Amino acid sequence: MPGFRLATIAGDGIGPEVVGAGLELLDALAGRGGPSFQVTELPWSSRYYLRHGRMMDADGLERLQEHDAILLGALGDPSVPDHIAVRGIVIRIRQAFDLYVNLRPVELLPGVTSPLRRATPANVRMLMVRENSEGEYLGIGGRAHQGTEREAAFETAYFTRAGIERVARYAFERARGEGMRLTSITKSNALVHSMGLWDESVRRVAAEYPDVGWESMLVDAAALHLVRDPGRFGVVLASNLFGDILTDLGAAIAGGLGLAASGNIDPQRRRPAMFEPVHGSAPDIAGQGIANPFATFWSIALMLEHLGEGASAKAVLAAMRQVLRETSIRTPDLGGRSTTRDVTRAVCEALPSA
Ligand code: NAI
Ligand code: MG
Repeated sequence: MPGFRLATIAGDGIGPEVVGAGLELLDALAGRGGPSFQVTELPWSSRYYLRHGRMMDADGLERLQEHDAILLGALGDPSVPDHIAVRGIVIRIRQAFDLYVNLRPVELLPGVTSPLRRATPANVRMLMVRENSEGEYLGIGGRAHQGTEREAAFETAYFTRAGIERVARYAFERARGEGMRLTSITKSNALVHSMGLWDESVRRVAAEYPDVGWESMLVDAAALHLVRDPGRFGVVLASNLFGDILTDLGAAIAGGLGLAASGNIDPQRRRPAMFEPVHGSAPDIAGQGIANPFATFWSIALMLEHLGEGASAKAVLAAMRQVLRETSIRTPDLGGRSTTRDVTRAVCEALPSA
């Protein structure tokens, strides 16, 4: 079985708890004939910042590059300002490695209750693809006349044809592979310049995929339809800002943060991809041993898929499904009374052998 080099950044709060659970899962998988991982555990965290005055080693990015993938827990601690903790690692890696796809599966697993009455495992099955490298979040802007009545601020969205086309191409490839429809999220009726370019670029890429059904939808309409009729959606392609908002809506529909997984990917594989649960460091429950590890397990499944280990990815998802369907083993966020350890043991035991 092939060996992969995996860098882990457990981070703060429940980060080490869920990453620890994830490493147990990988061990169990290897024990059943799955791929083996050589793991480098990196200590970068808020505690590291308080000791060293920076979030990661000076040669941190070079060290990460020696790995096939990165598994990140969460960052954020009351002792360090959030913009330092999250920007110093998560945003830095996404930008430096040009991980331009943010991938988020939104599926309602059997045994999980959605706040939407009409949501079922049969009609909630989406793959959200968020542009992760440009758009509204580049921080281009400024402030003027500070401290006066005339105080002003501007923040510029930055879109490029190449940037839109490359993420759209990834989304159409996935739609083709999964046999899903694609919805491109826009707002070109109001944001005529940036979203005008978005629509034209997506349309150009769509022409390369005549076999994939797709539609363009205004973001406000998408918020409405996601709640009223989630079955209408398959692959959802969105800009950084719109994707940020709609993926949280997606996470809520599929049962909450304890289950929401993500990958930051460079489809050209020039740099290691980074996989992380969507949730933060949850200081309110940190250290109690009750963090839900499912979001991390699902992120690991995305990682396995990205590394070409599709059978192992399916095995992880099958084990998660089995535990949710056939047992009442759940952490408190899903209404249960089990611990991180109980859930991890149950999922490891439910893994089918390769
Ligand atoms: P959060 O996601 O940490 O927690 C929100 C709520 O969901 C809390 O009640 C928490 O207990 C619960 N929750 C989250 N993950 C859970 C899990 N796996 N199992 C059970 N319950 C879970 O968001 P919050 O409280 O807004 O932020 C806390 C810190 O995390 C902040 O410093 C924030 O900046 C940081 N953060 C970091 C992120 C990252 O590293 N990518 C992403 C989001 C927030
Ligand atoms: Mg968000």
